[in-house]
Amino acid sequence: MLELKEKIYWVGVKDWELKRFHGEEYSTHRGSSYNSYLIKDKKIALVDTVWTPFHEGFVADLEKEIGLNNIEYIIINHTEQDHAGSLAYLMEKIPDTPIYCTKNGASMIKGHFHKDWNFKVVKTGDSLELGDYKLVFVEMPMLHWPDSMATYVAGANVLLSNDAFGQHYASPYMFNDQVDQGELFQEAVKYYANILTPFSGLVKKKIKEIKELNVPIDMIAPSHGIIWRDNPLQIVEKYDLWASEYDEGTAAILYDTMWGATKKMALSIAKGLEKNGIGVKVFNLGKIDKNDVLTEVFKAKGIIVGSSTINKGILSSTASILEIIKGLKFKGKVATAFGSYGWSGESPKIVEQRLTDAGFEIIQELIKVKYDPTPENLRECEAFGEQFALKMKEHM
Ligand code: FEO
Repeated sequence: MLELKEKIYWVGVKDWELKRFHGEEYSTHRGSSYNSYLIKDKKIALVDTVWTPFHEGFVADLEKEIGLNNIEYIIINHTEQDHAGSLAYLMEKIPDTPIYCTKNGASMIKGHFHKDWNFKVVKTGDSLELGDYKLVFVEMPMLHWPDSMATYVAGANVLLSNDAFGQHYASPYMFNDQVDQGELFQEAVKYYANILTPFSGLVKKKIKEIKELNVPIDMIAPSHGIIWRDNPLQIVEKYDLWASEYDEGTAAILYDTMWGATKKMALSIAKGLEKNGIGVKVFNLGKIDKNDVLTEVFKAKGIIVGSSTINKGILSSTASILEIIKGLKFKGKVATAFGSYGWSGESPKIVEQRLTDAGFEIIQELIKVKYDPTPENLRECEAFGEQFALKMKEHM
């Protein structure tokens, strides 16, 4: 157990080996942690559990440290399995312990475990006295599930925020002032870009609501990764920024290629962008991690997507990333499309349509090249990049 503040302990698990999360949907290059918290006040409360594969060790540690029968309350901020997965095993040992969660939380726990435990449904502002501290519950619907909530430990000024403000990041350290800031913020923004972007409107509203509560926050302890104790509100400010049609004024070129022609086009377009002062990153979708690319899309203002034409369609890697991009509902970004072909040449038009469907503003007519690009074609691609840079600047 790691003491975070007097009577508040981290009792979670570090998952050093995790490489994929949400099935295959999210890459976790730096592993993750499942942060569970124990508050040993006059009454003892456990906030969240850990992912199912770690249930035995987690429960055995709790038994050793405090004795399971001494846990008076269980708080489930969020029912996804990485936080509530060990609940069934824990409840086998202490079946009558009340579980505090939202209405949706109770319904989801029942749906998942098919058990009718002693649920105490809470709403924003409801509280639970522990002794010196008081838990105050704050519903966080769709941040990022309908059941999500945060628990504020009044008296200790600690916000147990669950997924919000977290990162998939296993580290020997637990606090933000102890770790490499580049790694920390890269994992934090990746988490936001890949999981929270569709809910940015709700993020802004919730941040406003929390600020208006005007309560002191000395520490923000999410359910994944590092705990914010040094200037904890810095991550709240970041979220506010990230939720505001965020971009860094750069461009991202995403492409896949069969025989290298579309790649040549991509590199020439990039040259044109650079020529007109726009920083650009180029990604081969057949080779790059999709969540890293999505993070770069999140950071970019301009997105240029290319694919060779295959069977009157687009390459599967391009189709796949465009499908995810659509779901993430990025806002305030501009785009165009390109691609090479042999005979029919549908790919850039299909890409353009999918970018439109995903909510991007198409600010430039697509470009396509038949067969392998000639030097003249590549000059046209470069000019295409130059022109896009100028149009992009008009939108910044
Ligand atoms: Fe939404 Fe970390 O689970």
